[in-house]
Amino acid sequence: MITESKILIVDDEKTQRDALAQLLEMDGYAVKTASNGAAALNIIDRFMPSVVITDFKMPNMSGSQLISAIKKKNPLIEAIVVTAYGNIDIAVDAMKKGAYDFITKPIDFEHLSILIKKASEKRMITIENIQLKQQLSSVSHKIIGESDSIKKVLSVVKRVAGTDVPVMITGESGTGKELVVDALHKSSGRKGNLIKINAAAIPIDLLESELFGYEKGAFTGAESSKVGKFDLASKGTLFLDEIGDMPYNLQSKLLRVLQEKMVMPIGASSEHPIDVRIIAATNQNLDKRISTGAFRNDLYYRLSVIKIDVPPLRERKEDIPILAEEFCKEFASRYNKNIKGFTQEALQALTNYDYPGNIRELRNYVERAVILSHSSLIDVSLMPSELKNIQPDASISIDNGLEAAVEALERDLIKNALETTGMVQTRAAQKLKISERVLRYKLAKYGFK
Ligand SMILES: Nc1ncnc2c1ncn2[C@@H]1O[C@H](COP(=O)(O)OP(=O)(O)OP(=O)(O)O)[C@@H](O)[C@H]1O
Ligand SMILES: [Mg+2]
Repeated sequence: MITESKILIVDDEKTQRDALAQLLEMDGYAVKTASNGAAALNIIDRFMPSVVITDFKMPNMSGSQLISAIKKKNPLIEAIVVTAYGNIDIAVDAMKKGAYDFITKPIDFEHLSILIKKASEKRMITIENIQLKQQLSSVSHKIIGESDSIKKVLSVVKRVAGTDVPVMITGESGTGKELVVDALHKSSGRKGNLIKINAAAIPIDLLESELFGYEKGAFTGAESSKVGKFDLASKGTLFLDEIGDMPYNLQSKLLRVLQEKMVMPIGASSEHPIDVRIIAATNQNLDKRISTGAFRNDLYYRLSVIKIDVPPLRERKEDIPILAEEFCKEFASRYNKNIKGFTQEALQALTNYDYPGNIRELRNYVERAVILSHSSLIDVSLMPSELKNIQPDASISIDNGLEAAVEALERDLIKNALETTGMVQTRAAQKLKISERVLRYKLAKYGFK
């Protein structure tokens, strides 16, 4: 193991890094130190440490930025971040950037020793399994869910995947539209690639050349020709994400491509045929854009021969526990944590919530909780406040009848809304989706001061 035990300490405070270096050397490690991120990156090239211990707060380059840079250079180097006590968000951020773990100041040396050993172990296992890991990482996420509504989506995917008719996928942000696209392409049997283009993310003036490509000399600056996405997706699938943001003039060109199955790169003298399956997605209500004339009706019909509506998570709450457990497994393995799942209370809190950000939001909460958890079951205390606030009060009983119980619950929810909005009535009313007038009435009714 001794060859595996090279450690780099990065800290802008000399006394701190020297003290740590001395302790670790006494433990038999080969140690080098650096006073900032840039120096650390320099040393890494020659010294090739197995573990880097870095302070978070440093001038020029933060610990988090350093970890990103290290991981880019060599993902096998494990990093441990030192943060000030209580700076949990920083620790979470560093873990997301790829840190193995974090330790708070003042450093408990015993604890640090254990972390270093564990990080080195993880590194060895990773090195041994690297080939296996590479294979695994190419297996993309599967669509998880047992609800009738997600099963319906999957059955449509199965039935239409093999055809080449256009598919329109609708659904709120974070519902899994992109996963549906992946599934459609994978089960299509089409030999070409799945090419994605997001109409909202690309500057309008570049969209056309991205989609159709151009010939050399088509315009000033076109020094060589460029292959467009339609051609890159040849014999495969082209995914037009955020189709609602496609500018009007391009909508006409798109319509023509769909009708004729021919494309003409900018500056080309002739069209050529293409064999591409088109899938479009949107999280906005296209009906509205159609009625205001911002989106072409005829294009809409061309694109939505088959429509798949991915339901929001709050309409398939039975999927929440399955998804949460699955994400928990995934992140526990990613962050090397021994976590088995959630406490009953945590699962209840997860299930009660409505998720405006859908599965993406749920996934983020689970990731955060896995990072922060120190026990084998994730506790409700690790859930963000949004989730904790809506748990119905267990003390509410129906001994005095349903009406009294409902009133008690209402009182609790109002109290909660006020507390979480800093007692600002306008905001509390918004949160409760009632008018301020009704809120005032209820405050008086329940004797709030
Ligand atoms: N059924 C599911 N099973 C497992 N993971 C899911 C599922 N649905 C969504 N996810 C995960 O949730 C996240 C968001 O999904 P995705 O990017 O597909 O959403 P989207 O509908 O395309 O959102 P947007 O409209 O914001 O682009 C991804 O990390 C995805 O892997
Ligand atoms: Mg998407």
